[in-house]
Parts: sequence; structure tokens; C-alpha cells
Amino acid sequence: MKDIQSLPPGPKPHPFFGNLLEFQRDQLKFVERMQRTYGDMVTMHAGPRPFVLLFRPEYVRYLLTEHPRDFMATQSAGGDLMEVLGESLLTIEGEAHRQQRRLVQPAFHKKRVESYADYMVQYTQEMLDTWHEGEVVDIAQAMQQLTLRIVVRSLFALELLDQIDEMGRNFSQMIEHRRSLLARLLNIYVDLPFTLYGKRMSAKRRIDAFIYKLIRERKAEGQDHGDVLSMLLATQDEEHPLSEQQIRDHVITFMAAGHETTANALNWTFYLLAQNPEPREKLLQELQTVLAGRTPTLNDLPNLPYTEWVINESMRVYPPVWAMGRKSLVPFEMGGYHFPEGMTFLFSQWVIHHHPDLWQDPNTFRPERWNPENDEKVQPWSYFPFGGGPRICIGMPFAQLEAKLLLATIMQRYTPRLIPGFPVVPKPRVTLRLKHGLRMKVERTATVVKDSVTMI
Ligand code: HEM
Repeated sequence: MKDIQSLPPGPKPHPFFGNLLEFQRDQLKFVERMQRTYGDMVTMHAGPRPFVLLFRPEYVRYLLTEHPRDFMATQSAGGDLMEVLGESLLTIEGEAHRQQRRLVQPAFHKKRVESYADYMVQYTQEMLDTWHEGEVVDIAQAMQQLTLRIVVRSLFALELLDQIDEMGRNFSQMIEHRRSLLARLLNIYVDLPFTLYGKRMSAKRRIDAFIYKLIRERKAEGQDHGDVLSMLLATQDEEHPLSEQQIRDHVITFMAAGHETTANALNWTFYLLAQNPEPREKLLQELQTVLAGRTPTLNDLPNLPYTEWVINESMRVYPPVWAMGRKSLVPFEMGGYHFPEGMTFLFSQWVIHHHPDLWQDPNTFRPERWNPENDEKVQPWSYFPFGGGPRICIGMPFAQLEAKLLLATIMQRYTPRLIPGFPVVPKPRVTLRLKHGLRMKVERTATVVKDSVTMI
């Protein structure tokens, strides 16, 4: 048994910055290096404050599903996310979290989610109708606008087409821009138009104005649309009504969490497919054999297993949420260490999804590893793109359906190709974004199955 005071090993901290300068420089490389240098439990410092990085599936399971009530999500303790999202499902705790999750859960039940499939495909077709053979498309922007339009239509019964450009830009600015490291350490907020923080907050105010207007219109109208907003507004007649501010917090969270993650998952999928001809051909073969040129529908999905493996594998290689955090509410012991109450833990999908002890050829994009008939078994908790336990992503069925339908619909008509020299650089924020976006050349998809009709 280790000394009761001791924390796991880790890099020497700078007296003022701790290890934040190194962490900031390249967060993905930093967490990878920590695991390789110090093992599966590492202490680093944010300023003077220690926090512990966890890189083993068992530790993730302990925090997320075995003892979820002993931990709070770090995003509920304030910080960047709470600043813009307020108190929503993503950032509230305890009984309030349980109650409000139950309240909106019906919008995410299988049947309900499946009813959104038609919009998903229709909006994708509309986007593809604006593309032309051989042109360069900003895929990251296209995926953002498409997924934002879909989530807003599905959850809020609202058509965003005319404002999609502006809303997409607002969300990007709100998510992208952060205060500098120094400003954060010194707790400085300069909300002026030329500062990053000022840009972030004015984007937030523009989104807020849009959402409050929507809430007031719906209240005045008094009609039940059967959507998430109606569910939230229905609490007005109950014992514990949600305030207008709470409803705004939920709406902005569903809009942000409901498009940013899936858009990034699709971006990285197109990038990986462009880089890996063999999986790309197999995917096209499946689509052309099963769909034979038809628009995909919900009923086609069970016959598109390879499409699903491509998405699974893409979220392993480039997890849209690359790290998550929890703070202990009680002292506890794990992995031979005793941790006090109030300790922050960070566990990273990025590291665990590439851990060489858990994955064969971890850096290779191989959708076949998801084939259940394969020998390569995925160990529990070595893959958790949607988190787990009582806070598992409520939008998981939505995102899985959407990613498959969008990928199938797009790839059937166009194959995005890399542009030589275009820098594809991950940018870890709350989600794993692309630093320079993703410009790709779209080519009409060639037929890889010659006699597709006879093959069905
Ligand atoms: C590929 C797409 C997605 C990924 C990878 C993803 C990932 C995650 C993860 C890892 C969490 C857990 C955070 C934590 O426990 O600290 C989460 C929570 C959440 N996600 Fe997603 N998400 C995706 C899509 C969506 C969609 C489409 C929606 C809504 C339509 C959504 C809404 C939420 C909400 C509201 C929470 C908070 C749940 C709670 O704490 O009860 N997400 N997501």
C-alpha cells in the first residue's frame, strides 16, 4: 500500500503555471506522453492545483458506472462550458439532473428518434443538390450547418434554413474562442469586441436572443408540438416549473451538443475514408449493393453493417469528445492510491482508444475490427465515445442514426477527396475540431459494383 498522502507520479510542475504551458501547447500529444512516460495514473498540475489523469478502462468504469454518485462532472463546477450553456442537463447534478433527464428522455426514445430519419436524409439530399462534380467544399462547415439544421428541426420543430449560415457562425465562435491561458489563470474577463472572450460572449448573446424569442413565441402560441421545447414548457403547469432561463439553458445545450459532436464525427470519417482506399471501396460496395442507387431509409440500416463499423472506427481513431472530467465528492481509494474529496480526474478517450495494451495496431483505421465475428474483441470500457453510466450521452441513438444515414446518403453520390497540401490538424476543444476546417474536393462516386442490381 502506498503512502496515504502520495499522489500518482507525474511531471514536475512550474510554480505558477503547473504543467499548463506544456498541456496547452499540444493537449493530445501531452496526454499521450503522460501515459507513455508515467503509466496509467498520472498527476499533473493546473496552476498550483493537482489533478489526476486516468488511462485504464477499469478506472473509467469505476467513476462512470460503479460509483457515479461519488463524483460530479467537472463541467458542472463552472468553467468554459457552463459560462455559455448555463445550467442544463450537461451541467447540473444530483436530483435536478435525474428529474430533468427523465423529463426530456421521451424525445430520445428509439421510435421517436427514428421519426427524425426522413429529415436527416431530406436535408442531406438538399445539401448535395448544391454540390457540383469536382468542386472544393468546406466539409466542416457543410457538416456543421447540416447537423445544426437537423437537430433544430428534430428537437424544436423549427426550420433554420434562412439563418443557418449566421447560426452556424455564432456557434463556432462561441465554442472556438476562449480566453488565453494567462487570462484564465488570473481570472481576467475582458468582454470587448476585439478580444476572443468578447467575440465568444457576443456570439452567445446573439444565440440567446434567438432562443428567448423562440421560447416566447411558443409560449404565446400555446400549442404542443410534441418536441423537446414543448416538454420543457409543459413544466409551467407543474409543481416545479422550469424558469425561462433554465429552458434557454436546455435549448442551447441541445443545439450545441446535438450538432457539434456529430459534425466532427463525420468530418473525421470523410478524412479517414479519403486516406484509406480499401475501407472506402468496401463501404461503397456495401452502399451500392444494398441501396442500388436508392435514397437510404431507416429500414436499410440493418443491412449496412460496414457503414456502422466505419463510424465506430472513426470515433475510435478521432473521438469527437476526446476527454472527460469528474471531481470526487468523497474520499476514496483506487489503483493503490487514496484520493481526497475535491480531487479532479481527467480521462481521455483519445489515449484509451489508442492504448497499445487494448488495441491491435491502434493507429490503423480498420473498420473490420468491429465485425462481431472477428477475433479482435473490444474490451469493456476501452471504447466510450459517448461516456457511460447515468450521464451517458442522451443523444447517442440520435447521433448513431444520423451519422449512418448522412454518411450513406453522401457517399452514395459524392466521394470527398483530400486536397494535396491542405493542413488537417486536430484542435482539441470540448470536442475534437479541425484547426483549419476541412476543405475537400467532391467527386461523383464511381460505381464499384458493376452489376449491383443482380447482386441484391
Ligand atoms: C457523435 C456524436 C456525439 C458524441 C460523441 C457525444 C458525446 C457525449 C459524451 C461523451 C457525453 C458525456 C459527458 C459527461 O458524462 O461528462 C455526452 C453527454 C451529452 N450529450 Fe452527447 N454526444 C454526441 C451527440 C449528441 C447529440 C446528437 C445530442 C443531442 C441531440 C447530445 C446531447 C448530449 C447531452 C444533453 C449530454 C448530457 C447528458 C447528461 O449529462 O445527462 N449529444 N455526449
